[in-house]
Amino acid sequence: MKSGKTKILVVFYSMYGNTAKLAKAVAEGAQEVEDVEVSLRQVEELVPKEVIEANERMKQVKKELADIPIATDEDLIEADGIVFGSPTRYGNMSAQMKNFIDKTGAIWARGQLLNKVAGVFTSTGTPHGGQETTLITMMIPLFHHGMIVVGVPYATESRLFAMELGGGSPYGASSISGPNSDRPPTANDLKIAKTLGRRVAEIAKKMSQK
Ligand SMILES: Cc1cc2nc3c(=O)[nH]c(=O)nc-3n(C[C@H](O)[C@H](O)[C@H](O)COP(=O)(O)O)c2cc1C
Repeated sequence: MKSGKTKILVVFYSMYGNTAKLAKAVAEGAQEVEDVEVSLRQVEELVPKEVIEANERMKQVKKELADIPIATDEDLIEADGIVFGSPTRYGNMSAQMKNFIDKTGAIWARGQLLNKVAGVFTSTGTPHGGQETTLITMMIPLFHHGMIVVGVPYATESRLFAMELGGGSPYGASSISGPNSDRPPTANDLKIAKTLGRRVAEIAKKMSQK
């Protein structure tokens, strides 16, 4: 049963916590819009438990994110706007996020994401390691679903003109986490992520006429 509020879902995968930080900023931005209800969800892990147990960083991040529920089909169907976040893997989204999207076949067949507003965000290790390719390829399945994909236009976010090392692009929010994945999103990255969340929420609110 839908409430009168516009529902925004922020769904992400994060191995070392950087994409999770962006996800929280996207959610905060969406929450700034009046009469919007935001849910934060993560996708199912595919890395075997014993591999995570053997890696202190991964184990710690799993613990930190333990309270964030795993996204369900119902979460997707209920939402008016959905923002997807994934770390970059060889210039593309992670297998965990792809696995989540690949399981939406029944939803696709019923057209249940049609005309919902969408946005994307990512984190790479290196500045030119595929932020834009990841963001753009993440959009492709969303077009198949008939979603209305929005980015971060320069006109709404002057921080895209920043010359310091950082993320953020007209295609979506991003951060550069460094060779050891331990460089958190910068203040600018987080603000751009908030702008993305706010924009998805504002447009979803208009689209759902709430
Ligand atoms: C298998 C694998 C492939 C990766 N591929 C890329 C890549 O193509 N470009 C890049 O800049 N970073 C790459 N990375 C680094 C991650 O994108 C980076 O660690 C990411 O920011 C981590 O996000 P997280 O902290 O949310 O897990 C790769 C990491 C792994 C484990």
